[in-house]
Amino acid sequence: MINGGTTLHGEVEISGAKNAAVAIIPAALMVDGVCVIENMPQISDTEMLLTILKELGAKIRYLNRSTVEIDCTDVWMQDAPYDLMRKIRASYYLIGAMLGRFGHAKTTMPGGCNFGVRPIDQHIKGMNALGADIDIKSGFIYADSRDGKLHGARIYLDKVSVGATMNIILAATLAQGRTIIENAAREPHIVDLANFLNSMGADIRGAGTDTVKVNGVDRLHGGSYALIPDQIEAGTYMVAAAATGGEVLIKNVIPRHLECISAKLRETGTIVQEYGDAVLVKGASALRKINVKTLPYPGFPTDMQPPMCALLCVANGTSVVTEGVYDNRFKYVNELRKMGAEIQVDGRVAVVEGGKRLSGAPVMACDLRAGAAMVIAGMCAAGTTVVEDVRFIERGYENFVGKLNSLGADIRIVDEPEERRGREKIVSIV
Ligand code: EPU
Repeated sequence: MINGGTTLHGEVEISGAKNAAVAIIPAALMVDGVCVIENMPQISDTEMLLTILKELGAKIRYLNRSTVEIDCTDVWMQDAPYDLMRKIRASYYLIGAMLGRFGHAKTTMPGGCNFGVRPIDQHIKGMNALGADIDIKSGFIYADSRDGKLHGARIYLDKVSVGATMNIILAATLAQGRTIIENAAREPHIVDLANFLNSMGADIRGAGTDTVKVNGVDRLHGGSYALIPDQIEAGTYMVAAAATGGEVLIKNVIPRHLECISAKLRETGTIVQEYGDAVLVKGASALRKINVKTLPYPGFPTDMQPPMCALLCVANGTSVVTEGVYDNRFKYVNELRKMGAEIQVDGRVAVVEGGKRLSGAPVMACDLRAGAAMVIAGMCAAGTTVVEDVRFIERGYENFVGKLNSLGADIRIVDEPEERRGREKIVSIV
């Protein structure tokens, strides 16, 4: 429940990157030894993946709030727990990791946010090229290497895909010979996955460019690694500060990863100042319209599209938002309309008539980033907004309510998500 009309002021610390963590936790499955991962975000997606590893036989313990030790030495090949697997998108990384370690895998079709059809054909193409047969039957994915081992190959991705790039990197790490991934995605979390694997003995080059080369190695050894900060969490606080006309220092970030967001915010009249590992965002007294198109990195991130749309509702003028990654990522617009927003959607284009005074309303968090957009709109609106289904937000934002309240927001959890109520904390801090 958000009481609107607040302006955000102060400092906020960004957590580790979700989309790096959800690939690096499965990657730990391939490590022969103990991995210590620092800057692990406390969100339900990472908690679910850690639970999956635990059920596969991994030993997991938290050394402090954000440092987790994973020991997969005793993991044996068995079916992964399906009820958890189908809830998250990133469960598909277990295909690459299990193929790498055991030569076969059985998982469910991935879950995750619903933005229309989200095929995994490029993952399958990659695994096939590495020498694995993939069979999809009754909602399950069966992956089997043809001769018990994967073999390096040259793979051209028909579509720039974060998931396919990371999954192929995982599978190729312990394959025999060299894999070359062309038209690879270049997101910061891809570099983070490669850096993690390299620090454990892998030989991966070119991550962060559109050609990634993986020379297979026989084994990975244990070690320590710190995850990069979350680009999208940082971007969400930047947009929240700008939309509410506040001034927020966002700490523990890599400003270079935020340039695509900073550039568009500056066009709205927002001041963004970069420091070594922080950005200061000062909202303008009157925000200006902008046109924005989402693209793979280093373009404007699709995951920032809903929060930015919420901001453009209160900016002056008509903005055009084009979704360049997903077929159907504007479903949440209906919820913003309940608050008085005027937005027309035609396919992948939304036209936002800005300058509206939003008013609080009961709305749904349709998915993770749409949920963040509702909270931002709620802070800008007059009156009270109730956002339902906040479990989506908890998938990717650590302590969202606590961090926003520390900046001056007025938000309360009035009804705890059922999932959280029933959930037993799977890890104990030692
Ligand atoms: N695509 C295909 N075939 C494939 C794979 C992807 O056609 O085999 C298409 C998708 O349908 C989409 C586009 O390619 O239209 C890009 O999809 P991508 O594979 O890059 O996305 P993803 O790996 O499924 C990850 C993040 C998303 C983020 C996208 C894009 C994870 C777990 N998820 O998804 O994060 O939107 O990359 O950056 O890493 C979020 O954090 O809220 C979120 C949705």
